[in-house]
Amino acid sequence: MTQTEQIQRSLDALRRQFAHELSGAGSVAALEPLRVKYLGRKSELTNFMKQLGTCPADQRGALGKALNLFKTEIETALREAEPTLSRRPTADGADVTLPGVPTPLGRLHPITQTMRSIVDCFVPLGFEVAQGPELEHEWYNFDALNIPAEHPSRESFDTFFVDVPPGAPTASAYTGLDAAPSAGRQAGKPLLRSHTSPVQVRVMQTRKPPLRIVVPGRVYRPDPLDTSHSFMFHQVEGLMVDDHSSFADLKGVLTYAMSRLFGPSTVMRFRPHFFPFTEPSAEADIACSNCKGGGCSTCGRKGWLEILGCGMVHPNVLRAVGYDPNKVQGFAFGMGVERIAMLKHGIGDIRLFFENDLRFLEQF
Ligand code: DAH
Repeated sequence: MTQTEQIQRSLDALRRQFAHELSGAGSVAALEPLRVKYLGRKSELTNFMKQLGTCPADQRGALGKALNLFKTEIETALREAEPTLSRRPTADGADVTLPGVPTPLGRLHPITQTMRSIVDCFVPLGFEVAQGPELEHEWYNFDALNIPAEHPSRESFDTFFVDVPPGAPTASAYTGLDAAPSAGRQAGKPLLRSHTSPVQVRVMQTRKPPLRIVVPGRVYRPDPLDTSHSFMFHQVEGLMVDDHSSFADLKGVLTYAMSRLFGPSTVMRFRPHFFPFTEPSAEADIACSNCKGGGCSTCGRKGWLEILGCGMVHPNVLRAVGYDPNKVQGFAFGMGVERIAMLKHGIGDIRLFFENDLRFLEQF
């Protein structure tokens, strides 16, 4: 047997031995010793390389090729073994090296975001967040707010009344609300609150002035759905009561809050208006940010955008909760969250907020 044949044979044996050892390798760490053993300075391969010079000249080419082939085979096998070995499952069968399944991050709904940023404008002024039930009693939604039954202003608040089946537990047990809003008064029919103002009453009933609250929440009105109406929408209500709060304070608080909400250069104006629960009452506008008061399609060519209702709390409301209107006074305000979100983001259709189309929601 020639020297070349002997080397070829040894290479075949080495191949088998290598394949056997490689299949026993349990980790990436076990590959390096194999590389040293089969390709390193003291390996058989290196030894054969050295012998190449002593081979007959006519066999050297073929032998050199065989040695190189062996070397690349080993290198390739080691390289390919690595990813497989590093992906070995753990004892309990979990493969910790598999790429993770990304968890899509949620985000707050644009209405929630707007509602929170409205609330955040009042918190630095000492307003606390208060909440109340969406399933409300007539007394809180109307009577206590100086909107007696048969009063024409009830009609401006179209309302979803809730049917309580005959023989069902009393309205208060049914709704989980307290039965006696105030001594000797009827809670009235259960309804879905048509504004957040009843929470003013609930808070005043249970607390003494001074108080400053903001009330974010959902309200309901049986309005046909169109680009600016929905049967469910959101409001943020505000109330401040102490022994001296004036209309000037009301203007100061709202001007500050709206400049936080819409930017420092926001221009605001107050127009006389009527609300049963405030006297005097006003509606507040901001100068249209689009045309800066010049008149455009956003503001209906008026130059102003109506954003809230407000006023001094009516003495009858203070009486309804057991406050003495000669000792305390205060102001209240209420605004629609959808309307503000639409103005802030240039959204033309309220229905977009409730369709839950991710292409819309992901923009916020
Ligand atoms: N509750 C009124 C509405 O739903 C908004 C409002 C106006 C609230 C004036 C107030 C207020 O507290 O003082 O349209």
